Amino acid sequence: MSPPVVHDYIRDLGRAWTGQGTAMEVGCWLGATSAALLEGLVEAGYDRTYWGFDRWQANEAEARKAAEQGVNIGVGQNLQPMFMKNVKARYEAIQAVRGNIPRTLNFYSPAEPIEICMFDAPKRNPTFIDSINMLLPHFIPGVTVLGLLDYHFYISRRDDQQKEDWEKFLAPVNFIRKYKENFELMAEFPNDGSCAFFKYLKPI
Ligand SMILES: C[S@@+](CC[C@H](N)C(=O)[O-])C[C@H]1O[C@@H](n2cnc3c(N)ncnc32)[C@H](O)[C@@H]1O
Repeated sequence: MSPPVVHDYIRDLGRAWTGQGTAMEVGCWLGATSAALLEGLVEAGYDRTYWGFDRWQANEAEARKAAEQGVNIGVGQNLQPMFMKNVKARYEAIQAVRGNIPRTLNFYSPAEPIEICMFDAPKRNPTFIDSINMLLPHFIPGVTVLGLLDYHFYISRRDDQQKEDWEKFLAPVNFIRKYKENFELMAEFPNDGSCAFFKYLKPI
């Protein structure tokens, strides 16, 4: 779903892993962005569990998008096996937690700090803020990278799709605005998949 330039940036994030925490993606789908991150992590010597969270249940829009990319999936299909096949080609120790966030985030082991967290699941509240609030206590000040992969999505919702509910998709933007002292922008790709990456600077 994200273009090559974003995959390249994510791969570099993996390469820059410092060994202080785990890496995860919330909203993995078939694993394209997780695979890019894992490629970089493996180069950096990553030796921890990689965590993936998703409901892995194809809806109509996902089946359509997959078909556009030449991948055949049916509505309602369990996509977890496809995710596992794609990421395990890069790294063996994958913990994939299937089901709806924020509930499934309870399965994350509280003992381990999170160094890289990519978030590509719902951009609306309360799901977005409830999920981020569950992950935040595991972030490492000065170290953790938070990737919000649909940070600028509200713009296309407003301008291209002209949907009246576009303001609901501002949840990630409002979160970062509220905590602008705690996060620093590292990179953003508003015209290439709409994501933005932030460094967690200090505790909220
Ligand atoms: C945009 S896709 C992720 C694409 C993936 N990061 C990539 O670039 O290849 C969003 C994913 O979020 C998942 N998702 C949406 N709402 C969810 C929820 N409430 N709980 C768990 N997963 C959810 C969907 O199943 C879907 O796989």
